[in-house]
Amino acid sequence: MHHSFKNLLITTALFATTSTFANEALLLEARNVASMVPPKLLQVLTEEIAKGGPASAIEVCNVKAPQMAKAASEQTGWMVKRVSLQNRNPKAVPDAWERAVLEDFDKRAAAGESPTTLEKSELVSNGDKGKEYRYMRALPVGNICLACHGTADKLSAEVKSKLQSLYPNDKAVGYTLGQLRGAMTIRKPQ
Ligand code: HEC
Repeated sequence: MHHSFKNLLITTALFATTSTFANEALLLEARNVASMVPPKLLQVLTEEIAKGGPASAIEVCNVKAPQMAKAASEQTGWMVKRVSLQNRNPKAVPDAWERAVLEDFDKRAAAGESPTTLEKSELVSNGDKGKEYRYMRALPVGNICLACHGTADKLSAEVKSKLQSLYPNDKAVGYTLGQLRGAMTIRKPQ
């Protein structure tokens, strides 16, 4: 083999390995960051539902969910939020990249992948604005979610009227167990 060609192959292999490691570290970090909010939010929801029922827990979620995402962003340097194809919070509309990922998650879940492990990561190039590492993790519908996101028969009259007044354009109802409610979405400039 020609010497310089062999060197080139070695360099390419080394470079590929290094960049895989860099991405691997980022992926591990992204997984951690994306896992910060859901357990805390679930705990608050569970406590509030136990205390005052789902209708009163809506008001807590309304305030606490955005607060927790903001705190996680400030703590980690990643931009942390939630998105959904059928959003409740008017700000939870996915951008083009997030929409494509959410649609892909739905397809992967329909093809039998476990909704609890669906994730996607990518180093995205934003032209002049440089590169950004983006990561999403699916949020599946569990039993506790149904009282506020389920089909009409699962929602109390009180829940319906509270949702109506806080979220007049709410699209986040009608879900059944195991469906994908949305995803955590996080991003960080590279
Ligand atoms: C007590 C009612 C309640 C329960 C229970 C509940 N949610 Fe929500 N959910 C809300 C409210 C209210 C919002 C809007 C919060 C906001 O304004 O950011 C919301 C928003 C969301 C969002 C952000 C996207 C959007 O549509 O705005 C996701 C994702 C979500 N919920 C998933 C879940 C999942 C998964 C569960 C079960 C583990 C769950 N929720 C349980 C009330 C609830």
